[in-house]
Amino acid sequence: MRTNLQLVLRVRPEGRVSLDHFEVREQPIAPLSDGQVLIETLYLSIDPTNRIWMSDRPQYMPPVAIGEVMRGLGLGQVIESRHPDYQPGDLVSGLLGWQQLALWEASSLRPLQKLPRHLDVPLTAFLGTLGLTGGLTAYFGMMSIGQPKPGDTVLVSAAAGSVGSLAGQLAKRAGSRVIGIAGSADKCQYVTEELGFDACINYAQENVAAALDRICPEGISVLFENVGGEQLEAALHRLRIFARVVLCGLISSYNDVELSGPRNFDMLLHRRATLQGFIVSDFASRFPEALAELVPLVRSGALKYRQHIVQGLTHAPAAVNMLFDGKNHGKLLLQVAASVER
Ligand SMILES: NC(=O)c1ccc[n+]([C@@H]2O[C@H](COP(=O)([O-])OP(=O)(O)OC[C@H]3O[C@@H](n4cnc5c(N)ncnc54)[C@H](OP(=O)(O)O)[C@@H]3O)[C@@H](O)[C@H]2O)c1
Repeated sequence: MRTNLQLVLRVRPEGRVSLDHFEVREQPIAPLSDGQVLIETLYLSIDPTNRIWMSDRPQYMPPVAIGEVMRGLGLGQVIESRHPDYQPGDLVSGLLGWQQLALWEASSLRPLQKLPRHLDVPLTAFLGTLGLTGGLTAYFGMMSIGQPKPGDTVLVSAAAGSVGSLAGQLAKRAGSRVIGIAGSADKCQYVTEELGFDACINYAQENVAAALDRICPEGISVLFENVGGEQLEAALHRLRIFARVVLCGLISSYNDVELSGPRNFDMLLHRRATLQGFIVSDFASRFPEALAELVPLVRSGALKYRQHIVQGLTHAPAAVNMLFDGKNHGKLLLQVAASVER
């Protein structure tokens, strides 16, 4: 009989996450019944939303319950199947959870996506540039909500990260002037020199409000917001009339117990701006359209991206903290399987 290793939420973190908030559980896997598929987790996507799911604040999905395997988006390989649509060796993605083996039931509401094998792209791209919390979020947030065009000035926060780096490149391709915000000189250099943004503000070195006055005195037409807090306030203050604000994330508050701000919400009124929050799954029916655009860009190298891979399931909580410390360089992944062939 196979044994599964799982990280089960034991207590809700306040602030930073640690392995102490989880029970590391070994669980025997019973023989499969009809309709079940057993998947080996190859990689997990480490996402800021993992931290949201650990809390019990009101959110877009139910919080992970105490005693439940931690929710996580992953990419895996079918190793046993009693479902006619899945064969051993199939590559799949879905909410596999923080565990080495995921037992999926045909009756489950959790969708399981079969990955196409014929596309000539690295496997890990399906969690990053072509993945839910990478390219698809950037694509729908920027192209459907932000709608950048020539003459627009687009501001993207967390610009060196998974979503921000792609959102900014898409706005550049649409002919806009694109400014990023990131937390180090290295990241800003990457954003301008490799990703092709027009400018990048290093918020660790320079006051964002002052930098915006210097770099875009004409104001911001599209704000792609990933961070919140003071950066959001500085940007709201500098919106152009009829600006669009794409509310993708507010990472600066996910570790907070008490939420605050923005204090200048009134700027949306004064600038007659539109703000729209979104969750990438809202666009599920249009994923094929996005992939049809993104795959050739990834294949040709026109869309640049970095991946940062951490090893070992029990390092998942520490990996989540890396996102909040800005220690990730590009899409953060956790390799769960000891070795991955493809
Ligand atoms: N709406 C959706 O469907 C959806 C889907 C996926 C992601 N998101 C959101 O998109 C945002 C980016 O997610 P991602 O997965 O692409 O992560 P990421 O940008 O690859 O990593 C997070 C980055 O955020 C920055 N950061 C962390 N704490 C910060 C703070 N207090 N102030 C300023 N910057 C901070 C860090 O970059 P620096 O080193 O530059 O500080 C860090 O590297 C998050 O807000 C996430 O919740 C939304």
